[in-house]
Amino acid sequence: MQYQVKTGDPARLATSCLVLGVYAGRRLPAQTKAFDVAATGALRRQLARSELDGASGRTVMLHELPGTAAERVLLVGLGEADRLDAAGWRKVVAGAARGLASAGVADALFAIDPGKLSAAHAARDLVVAIDEATYRFDRLKSKPKTPAPPLARVGLPASDRGIANAMKRGIAQGEAIAAAVRLAKDLGNLPGNVCTPTYLAQEARRVARGVRPLQVEVLEQRDMQRLGMGALLSVARGSRQPPKLIVMRWRGGGARQAPLVLVGKGLTFDAGGISLKPAADMDQMKYDMCGGAAVIATLAACARLALPLNVIGVVPSSENLPDGNANKPGDIVKSLSGQTIEVLNTDAEGRLILCDALTYCERFKPAAVVDVATLTGACIVALGHHASGLMTQDETLATELLAAGEASGDRAWRLPLWDDYQEQLDSNFADMANIGGKSAGAIIGGCFLARYAKAYPWAHLDIAGTAWRTGKDKGGTGRPVPLLVQWLLGRAKLAD
Ligand code: BES
Ligand code: MN
Ligand code: ZN
Repeated sequence: MQYQVKTGDPARLATSCLVLGVYAGRRLPAQTKAFDVAATGALRRQLARSELDGASGRTVMLHELPGTAAERVLLVGLGEADRLDAAGWRKVVAGAARGLASAGVADALFAIDPGKLSAAHAARDLVVAIDEATYRFDRLKSKPKTPAPPLARVGLPASDRGIANAMKRGIAQGEAIAAAVRLAKDLGNLPGNVCTPTYLAQEARRVARGVRPLQVEVLEQRDMQRLGMGALLSVARGSRQPPKLIVMRWRGGGARQAPLVLVGKGLTFDAGGISLKPAADMDQMKYDMCGGAAVIATLAACARLALPLNVIGVVPSSENLPDGNANKPGDIVKSLSGQTIEVLNTDAEGRLILCDALTYCERFKPAAVVDVATLTGACIVALGHHASGLMTQDETLATELLAAGEASGDRAWRLPLWDDYQEQLDSNFADMANIGGKSAGAIIGGCFLARYAKAYPWAHLDIAGTAWRTGKDKGGTGRPVPLLVQWLLGRAKLAD
C-alpha cells in the first residue's frame, strides 16, 4: 500500500474514489458539506435515498456526482457529531477500507476530518487500521478463496505544510507498526509443522539481514547446557525439534545507554507435554509463540523506525510435547538462576522457558525488561479477550505500559503482584513448584516469573486472551506489537 499526502482542495484532486464522512442523523461535517455544495446538492439527495444514517463505520458508494474530479464517492458513517475519538476513528477507517475493498477500488482519497485527534496520530492509526482491514493469510491455500483487494494507493489531503509534515511522520510510524503487526500475525498463523523454533530463529535472522545495527545471535541446545538452563531444556526434552534462544540486538542508542529488553514466549506448539491438554481446540496452541513473534516483530519495527534506543529481544523457543523422554510431573529441574523447580504440571511450561531467559537478561544490565507471553488460560477467565494482563511491581513501568496500551488501542489491565500470593508456589521438595493451585492462575504465573526478575525493573504481559481470535475470524491479532512500539516511541520521546 502506498500512502501520499496531498495538498489542495480534495474536490479538485483526481482519484478513483473520494472518501467522505457523514455524522449520525445524516448530518454533514464541513468537508462533506463543501463537497455537496460543489456537487450542487447531489450528495445530500443521494444520501437521503440511501440506507446510510451515519452509524460508525457503515458505508455507501455514490456514483456520478457532478462538480468533482473523483469517479465515485464512498460515504462513511462517523457516529455522533463531535464525539470522534481514537477508537471511533479506527472503526471509521476500517469500515471505509472494507467498503473500498468490496467495491474493487484501487486508489482512494481520504477526506475525513479526524476531529480532536492530531494529524500525526490520525494518519498513523489510519495506516494501521487499513492494513488490519485488508490483512489476509492465504499463503497455504492452493487457491486463495477470494482475490486480494486491489486497493493500492491511499491519498490524504492536508490543509497546510505543517499538517502535511505531521501526517508524513504519522504515516511512517503507521507503516512500521503495520508491517510489524503483519509479521506477528503471519508467524502466529503459521502451523506448528512450519513455524518451529528453527523457523523462528531463521525469521529473526531474515528480519536483521542487511540491517547493520540489528544483530542476531541464536543459542543452541549445547549452549544452553553449558550455561545451565535446566528449566528451558526440560521443556524441550519431549520434542524432536531442537530448542533455540533467539537474541536480537538493536543498537540505535549510545554505547553507554542501558538497553530495554523484550522477552517473548516462543512455544511453537503446546500440547501440554505429559500433562496432555484435551483434544478440543488444541490446534490453537500453535499460537503459543505469539509473544516471541511480537518481540521479533517489534525489533523489526525498531530498525524500520531507526529508534534512538538500545533494544534487545530475547525469545526462548521450544515445543512442548509428550514423549518417553519428556519432563514428568514431579520432576525437579535446576534453573539457570540456581533455583530448583518441582514440575508439578508439565503444561505450565511457559514459565519454565521464560525463567531461564529472564536470568539470561541480567548480563545486559537492562534499564527495564518486559516479557510477553501466552502464559495462562486463567488470564482469559480474568480479563477476556479485550485486555492483556499487566503484572509488575514497578510503578513507572505500570504507568508507561498502561498509557502505551491506551494510546495505541492495544490495551492492558493491571493485576496485583503482591507477595501474599507467593506462598502458593511452595514445594516440599524444591525451591518452588511450577503451579500454585486453582486460584489466581494468571497472578501465580506472574509471581513465578518475578522470582527470576529481581535484578532489574520488570513487567509481565499475559497475552493469552489477546494474541489471537477464535471462531469464524480465527487468526493472530499481532498484539501486543502496537503497545510495545508505542512504549518504545515514548521512551525515545517520539510518541505523538
Ligand atoms: N499456553 C498455555 C496457556 C494458554 C491456554 C493460553 C489457553 C491461551 C489459551 C500455557 O502453557 C498453559 O498451558 N498454562 C496452563 C497453566 C496451568 C497448568 C497452571 C493453563 O493455563 O492451564
Ligand atoms: Mn502449557
Ligand atoms: Zn504454553
